[in-house]
Amino acid sequence: QTEYIKKRIEADFTISRETLLRVTKQMLIEMKRGLQSDGQTLKMIPSFVTNLPTGTEVGSYLALDLGGSNFRVCEILLSSDGSRVRSRQKKFVISEDLKQGTAEKLFDFFAEAVGIFLKEVLGESTDEFNAEHKKLGFTFSFPVQQTALNKGNLMVWTKGFTVSGVVGKDVVGLLQEAFKRKNLKITATALVNDTVGTLVSHAYTDPQTNAGVILGTGTNAAYVELVKNIPKWTGGPVTSGKMVINTEWGAFDEEHTVIPFTKFDKKLDRASNNPGKQTFEKMISGLYLGEIARYAIVDLMKTGYIFKKESLSESLLSKPYGFETAYMSRIERDHSKDLSDINALLGDIFKIFNSSLEERSLVKRVCELVGLRAARLSAAGIAALVTKMNKLDGCTIAIDGSVFEHYPHFGNRMRDALFELLGISAENIDFAQARDGSGQGAALIAALAEN
Ligand code: BG6
Ligand code: GLC
Repeated sequence: QTEYIKKRIEADFTISRETLLRVTKQMLIEMKRGLQSDGQTLKMIPSFVTNLPTGTEVGSYLALDLGGSNFRVCEILLSSDGSRVRSRQKKFVISEDLKQGTAEKLFDFFAEAVGIFLKEVLGESTDEFNAEHKKLGFTFSFPVQQTALNKGNLMVWTKGFTVSGVVGKDVVGLLQEAFKRKNLKITATALVNDTVGTLVSHAYTDPQTNAGVILGTGTNAAYVELVKNIPKWTGGPVTSGKMVINTEWGAFDEEHTVIPFTKFDKKLDRASNNPGKQTFEKMISGLYLGEIARYAIVDLMKTGYIFKKESLSESLLSKPYGFETAYMSRIERDHSKDLSDINALLGDIFKIFNSSLEERSLVKRVCELVGLRAARLSAAGIAALVTKMNKLDGCTIAIDGSVFEHYPHFGNRMRDALFELLGISAENIDFAQARDGSGQGAALIAALAEN
């Protein structure tokens, strides 16, 4: 019976090479549409970043980084010999209250965090600091329609945020108002998506870098496009002829035309606070992978295939988002004969104390399949990027985010799928881990803006 159930869930979650090729092809079509005009599924947002750094940028900058799982304040020193950046940073947790609260509360929290950072990390009082008026790069990792390098209106919230009073507003304006309320003399000179920041910071040391990808709480990609391929660009001539584009690929296939959806994906979408939106993201990123696996495991429980004697209502398995993606990583890391760590996890966290080896191996299989599908879809997106940039013969893709960094086998599964799709290997396309780069990228973009 276990084999039969395994086959059934494998059929649900497996994406064939043919389907994956169709995903890449459709992604390319959507990319072109998004470059043509506004209002398309892929927003393809011009970032106003038209040059990559050369490694010679200098100066001291502040960076704010509102990413997925953390908010960071950093000070970044770009050394005069271009050797490398030095940075000091402090992480802050964004509470659920802040995520669902008001604009004023969220932006006041940012300004307060800067105050704390100055005092605790830099040892400066606000007065001393204000004497030396600072420049700041703001990494704000949501879909923002940029109207200038340091200006842009939030189009829609993603990744579970629903803060009121921000959609349609210039987020730099909101930040500057909060700085004013806290008497901080700081000017945000660059507004940057995390994908753009990751790309730029990696390009500082590796000029082969042509794209930045985030595989974390959310997912997205940015790449270098030729301005002549962006018919909707009305911002005037660009000397370099190039523009970094924030694709916002998390929205891909909102029309449900190519990716096969399972009933679990549908359930997750319906129960989310943005139903019908961010379809690609909901199948790939860390905020959602655990939840898809949870639905599949609960289904096995309800149909009586596993944990027959256990009570679902008493287990954390019945709680939405109770099965975190980090647990999937832990489950996939258990290579012991009797899956003893999975046993410990099921007991400690989920109050499931009596599981058989077969049941544990089914739980592990669900995680593998959900994780593998996510990695393959990510690779299909990267195949579209590489094809669009005409870089099949070689380039570096800078990748950041908790899923890429911590989920076991994710990178290798992506490499295998990319090979399956395009017949190119890691020797040609380098997936470079770019840890915490986007704050540095924002500082570099602020520095580039001054030249
Ligand atoms: C961080 C970057 O390293 O990764 C952020 O500095 C980015 O800008 C984040 O948003 C993405 O990862 P996660 O897992 O926190 O969403
Ligand atoms: C979401 C955001 C996007 C961001 C990505 C990764 O998809 O909409 O702007 O880049 O998450 O953090």
